Amino acid sequence: MTQTDATYRWPHKHLLGVEQISAADIRFLLATAHGFEDVSKRSVKKVPLLRGKVVVNLFFEDSTRTRASFSLAAGRLSADVMDFAAKGSSVSKGETLRDTARNIEAMGVDVIVCRHHLSGAAHQLARSVNCSVINAGDGSHEHPTQGLLDIYTIAQKLGRLDKLDFSGLSVAIVGDIANSRVARSNVHGLLKLGARVILVGPPTLLPRGFGDMGCELSHSLDAVLPRVHVVNMLRVQFERLSSQAFPSVREYATFFGLTQKRMKLARPDVIVMHPGPINRGIEIDSSVADGANSLILSQVTNGLAVRMATLRLVTAAGAAQTTGADAVAEATA
Ligand code: NCD
Repeated sequence: MTQTDATYRWPHKHLLGVEQISAADIRFLLATAHGFEDVSKRSVKKVPLLRGKVVVNLFFEDSTRTRASFSLAAGRLSADVMDFAAKGSSVSKGETLRDTARNIEAMGVDVIVCRHHLSGAAHQLARSVNCSVINAGDGSHEHPTQGLLDIYTIAQKLGRLDKLDFSGLSVAIVGDIANSRVARSNVHGLLKLGARVILVGPPTLLPRGFGDMGCELSHSLDAVLPRVHVVNMLRVQFERLSSQAFPSVREYATFFGLTQKRMKLARPDVIVMHPGPINRGIEIDSSVADGANSLILSQVTNGLAVRMATLRLVTAAGAAQTTGADAVAEATA
């Protein structure tokens, strides 16, 4: 770890959004993640850093990658993990989020990882419980670990993990910006690290408020593609869209789909990303998603290290900490 000084202390008991953390926090968290990368490559993929701690996944919305990733990450740190799905629970009998969370916490829980369809749900939870809360996606608001793993993936590919500064880097985020928590978390993090962020989408899906935050806004993917180093394609959030948001899926794909043909406009080394799940043939063609420029599966791999780092840091908030590699060395000595 080269860039945070020895006196740095991770101050956050919760990770609710990238908006609330500083560039120094992002650098420390990603340096910690970098140190954990190695654990996943060993034959025994476990370190005892969270032994005796309990992590609960409290998911009120569907998830494949995020929930599996948090479960595996907690397991690799030797925590006990419980998966709670709203379906089949007392939520269907009308129990509130607060009551559900407080009852689960009463069983001796250290971290709640929460996904919810309402923006602000994780913040409300953090006010209701004493344990740490990690936001795994709240409505269309934030999805901090996804934003951070996207940043990690870009930095890793560009060899900038040791000196995490994105000055001179241009990143396009394309598609359903209005409904995307992934876009918001990326925007906060990328701007803090000095990147230029260009948001691209149809007018109905591109809130103008992002311009005030320092992003450039565009309705033309063809015009933006040639000048970016990274293009992050978002899923069209059909479950959050009103029917008037865009004319037809076909028209959307025509103007905003990342096709093989459109890729010819981009730099040959452009980095292609997508948080998943992919609507193949809508926001991205299969040949591009599975092509040489795509880092989509690296994003998933890196998610584990980023979530291990997040779990480790929130459970030891305020304490003197070492970043991942040193912590692993200490724990296994
Ligand atoms: C994202 C989510 O759920 O916000 N997916 C994910 O966590 N990998 C993006 C999406 O659903 O489109």
